[in-house]
Amino acid sequence: MSIITTIEDLRVLAKKRVPRMFYDYADAGSWTESTYRANEEDFAKIKFRQRVAVNLVDRSLKSTMVGQEVAMPVALAPTGLTGMQHADGEILAARAAEKIGVPFTLSTMSICSIEDVARHTTTPFWFQLYVMRDRDFINRLIDRAKAARCSALVLTLDLQVLGQRHKDLRNGMTAPPKLTLPNLINLATKPRWCWNILRTPRRQFGNIVGHASSVSDMSSLSSWASQQFDPTLSWDDVAWVKERWGGKLIIKGIMDPEDARLAVKSGADALIVSNHGGRQLDGAQSSIGALPAIVAEVGSEIEVHMDGGIRSGQDVIRALALGAQGVHIGRPFLYGLGAMGEAGVARCLEIIRNELDLTMAFCGLRDVRDVDSRILLPGTY
Ligand code: FNR
Repeated sequence: MSIITTIEDLRVLAKKRVPRMFYDYADAGSWTESTYRANEEDFAKIKFRQRVAVNLVDRSLKSTMVGQEVAMPVALAPTGLTGMQHADGEILAARAAEKIGVPFTLSTMSICSIEDVARHTTTPFWFQLYVMRDRDFINRLIDRAKAARCSALVLTLDLQVLGQRHKDLRNGMTAPPKLTLPNLINLATKPRWCWNILRTPRRQFGNIVGHASSVSDMSSLSSWASQQFDPTLSWDDVAWVKERWGGKLIIKGIMDPEDARLAVKSGADALIVSNHGGRQLDGAQSSIGALPAIVAEVGSEIEVHMDGGIRSGQDVIRALALGAQGVHIGRPFLYGLGAMGEAGVARCLEIIRNELDLTMAFCGLRDVRDVDSRILLPGTY
């Protein structure tokens, strides 16, 4: 454990321990992966102003996201198939988030169901919803999220159609993996993963079981998605979900100031500037690149969050400095999970917390809520 000092260390270990098709599923973007790469690369261009001789005692990373207190303004993003990175992955990640004091978001496309996660946690988590054609099914999911005391609904709008992910197609991704010869050879090198998966009963999509019994691999998931994910989705549907849900609503997948304005009109409590971690429209701008214009357009009217490309506490503070109230991380916690299960997700959050704290101190601040663009070097953002 002591040799793990960065998110990159967790990624390298996850690559060793997780079967290739699931590691690739997480560590991939769509088409040429240019947006996936830009998400990380654009963060590195933003430089800090170092300050000295400032009183740095009693520093605080505490903040709020959609009115909820958080130990630091970092939430775990919804990720599908998390239970394939590590058996019971959603439960383990939710427990680690609970211990550190940050929100966990359960994906519609999770392996563990809403009820599984609720049974193994005490702090309310967030639930992510896709708008599907079958409104009765959405009604049922919303009711299940309410019954599980989920404290916010994250409504993802950028998956009306599924971006093409070449690695998944090449790997013939299935959940659980089909026992073909190449898969068996690869699985033989991952005994820890196999042992964990074999001793847990949860291996299918927990939230859509019964509704999508035909879904077992990427091509059946794609065809289920193209039948179910609603290509007619409109802002009227968002208003309907908001009313039906009745609690805190976070709109995910906003990349354009005009859409941000419509998100404000929809009455949502927050929006997430997100290109789905570079997994949907390849060639789209990086999320951190899109953030300033969206903050300028609606930042005084709605809470603006962002995700995509955060790999350190330094990146978190860059996003906060550019006006985000909070950030969401996807792959960093998946790497932690694949590397070391619950302890790995906790380690990921500890690394980010420590880096965030130290970077804030080097910039001469003691309270994360005071972070703004004055800590950044002009001309680098
Ligand atoms: C995702 N993402 C995602 N988003 C969502 O709303 N519902 C989902 O089911 C998924 N599934 C999913 C699976 C995997 C493997 C990844 C990597 C991502 C997108 C996710 O919520 C978030 O937007 C990105 O992961 C953020 O980028 P980083 O932090 O991974 O760079």
